[in-house]
Amino acid sequence: MSECSTATTQPLVQCLSHHAVAADCLSVLRNRTTPPMIFRQTVHRLGLILMAEATRNLPTAPQSVATPLETTTCDAINPATEIWLVPILRAGLALTEAAIALLPQARVFHLGMYRNEETLEAVSYYNKLPKPAQPQHVRVIILDPMLATGGSAVSAVEQLLLKGIPQENVQMVSVLAAPEGINTLQTAYPQVSLVTAAIDRQLNEVGYIIPGLGDAGDRVFGT
Ligand code: PRP
Ligand code: URA
Repeated sequence: MSECSTATTQPLVQCLSHHAVAADCLSVLRNRTTPPMIFRQTVHRLGLILMAEATRNLPTAPQSVATPLETTTCDAINPATEIWLVPILRAGLALTEAAIALLPQARVFHLGMYRNEETLEAVSYYNKLPKPAQPQHVRVIILDPMLATGGSAVSAVEQLLLKGIPQENVQMVSVLAAPEGINTLQTAYPQVSLVTAAIDRQLNEVGYIIPGLGDAGDRVFGT
């Protein structure tokens, strides 16, 4: 089965096309018997691939570089761009090390959120996002393995927009996304882009992604 079989036509939604390591990671993560230690390690492994995709189009600027033989011009990430990684607690923590591995210069700001189990609404309990001096120069990558109803993602984007960051500067990286969550996010914020490893079939009656991988936070932390 293609992990993107219900792929959307929205141009800002990117589902990883077939990649052997990514597919292998998903098979480990979906397996109910995978213990937390391996689960965490595998989110990290997949996170490296997702982040390589998500960072492909960061703004670059030419730089003069002296090699041992001559001086040449190289593209480097534009130093005027301030990169923020925003992991959503708890499960987003599992993607953070992979994101920092690719972007060691990034600043990390956590958002704390949980879903109300009855209403499925996101409840925010932690936000220390600063007000940037030049919000238009900030690029944000929201890290959360699961995009289910989309409530948590929409709330995260809302909190970023309140700091003046334009929605087109915001990207989300997830492991699994449900079509319902993609539609909610794209309807609310059509310029926010998404990179995900798979788009699953649907949500079940209690808001879990099907076939999914279960509760990501519980599986990462063994709770
Ligand atoms: C999970 C997940 C997302 C959210 C996605 O968090 O990590 O943040 O659910 O669901 P949504 O798209 O319907 O909002 P959870 O509420 O389980 O908190 P936890 O990470 O602390 O376990
Ligand atoms: N949050 C999770 O951790 N898993 C789901 O399937 C949906 C929301």
